[in-house]
Amino acid sequence: MITYKLLTPGPLTTTETVKQEMLVDHCTWDDDYKQITQSIRETLLQLAHVSPEDYTAVLMQGSGTFGVESVLTSVTGTQDKLLIIANGAYGLRMADIARYAGLPYQLYTCSYDEVPDSKAIADILAADPSITHVSMVHCETTSGILNDIAAVAKVVKAAGKTYIVDAMSSFGGIDIPVSDLGIDFLISSANKCVQGVPGFSFIIAKKSALTACEGKARSLSLDLYEQWKAMEKDGKWRFTSPTHVVLAFAKALEELAAEGGVPAREQRYRSNNHLLIKNMGQLGFRTYIDALHQSPIITSFYFPQRCDFSFADMYAYIKERGYAIYPGKVTDADTFRIGNIGEIYAEDIEKLCGIFADYMEDK
Ligand SMILES: Cc1ncc(COP(=O)(O)O)c(C=O)c1O
Repeated sequence: MITYKLLTPGPLTTTETVKQEMLVDHCTWDDDYKQITQSIRETLLQLAHVSPEDYTAVLMQGSGTFGVESVLTSVTGTQDKLLIIANGAYGLRMADIARYAGLPYQLYTCSYDEVPDSKAIADILAADPSITHVSMVHCETTSGILNDIAAVAKVVKAAGKTYIVDAMSSFGGIDIPVSDLGIDFLISSANKCVQGVPGFSFIIAKKSALTACEGKARSLSLDLYEQWKAMEKDGKWRFTSPTHVVLAFAKALEELAAEGGVPAREQRYRSNNHLLIKNMGQLGFRTYIDALHQSPIITSFYFPQRCDFSFADMYAYIKERGYAIYPGKVTDADTFRIGNIGEIYAEDIEKLCGIFADYMEDK
C-alpha cells in the first residue's frame, strides 16, 4: 500500500495515536462510552469560549454537510426566512439544502475571491424584515478565503437575527469567540482542525435558540433538537453512533490540549501557511486569494502558465513522493489547492516545495 500525507482540507493527516484509538470496539450503551461523549461535548464548549449555562454541543452522525443540513432544516420554521451568504461552493450548498427542504430563503452571493460585505448584508436585512436567520461560511474551503464573521455578526446581531456559521474547516484551527460574536449555531466536523477522523459533525448551539427549534425539523434523523434532548440525558446518541470515530476524536481533543490548545495550533497552521506561500511564490506560483484574506488553512494556487501543464500528472508525481494535494474548486480560474492543516509541520512544507521544484525542473 502506498502511504502519503494529506495536504488537503480534511480528512487530514492524523497522528498514529489517534488512529490507534480505533482498534477498540465499544458498546454504545456502556456508561464509560457515554461518558466519553459527554466529555467531548464539554471540551467543545471550552474550545468555543462559551459557558455550559448558555450553550450546548450536539454531535451529529454523518459528514459536515449532515451537520449543516441538520441546523438549517431544524432551526428555520415555516414562518421564518433564511438569508444565505455565499462566496464559494459551501455557501451555495446551503442554498441547495434550503431548496431541497423547501425552506424560505434568499441568497446573497459575491465573487469567490471577495469577502461578503457586511454593509450590503445590513442593507438586505433592513430592506426585508421577514428575514429571521442569517447563515455563512467562515473559511470558504473552496478558495481558502477567510470571511469576516465578526463584521457580519455585528450587523446580524444589531438586526436581532439568528446567526449560523459553518466553521467546518476553521474551528479548532482558528480561535473563535462564539459567544462574544453572538453566534447562535456553529457547525464543524470531526475530521478537520481538531484532527480526528471522518464520521460525525458537531454543532455548538445557543440553548435559547435551540429550545426554540422544538418541532421545526424537516428530517427525523437530522432533527437537532431531538438529538440534543436524547444526548443530554446521559450521553447516549439517539441512533447508532460511530464509536471508533468518537474514541479517536476524544484522543484528538487531548492532543489538541497537549499542543497548547487552539492558539498554539493556529500558530502552527499559520506558520505552515506562510512558509508554503513564500516557497511556492519563489517557484513562481501565485495565490488566488490576496494576502489580507488568505486563511491559514488551505491555499488555492493558479496553474503555472505552461501549455503542457497537467494537474493529474503533477498530482501523481507528488503522490509518489509522499504527499497528496487537492484539485481546485473555484469556477473562474484554473487552480489547485494545498492544505496545511492536520499533523503537518514546516519540514513537510519544505519537502513538498522541494518536490514541486523538482517537478518543474524535470517536466
Ligand atoms: C466550509 C465547509 N463546509 C461544508 C463542508 C462539507 O463537509 P463534508 O464534505 O464533510 O460533508 C466542507 C468540506 O470540506 C467545508 O470545508
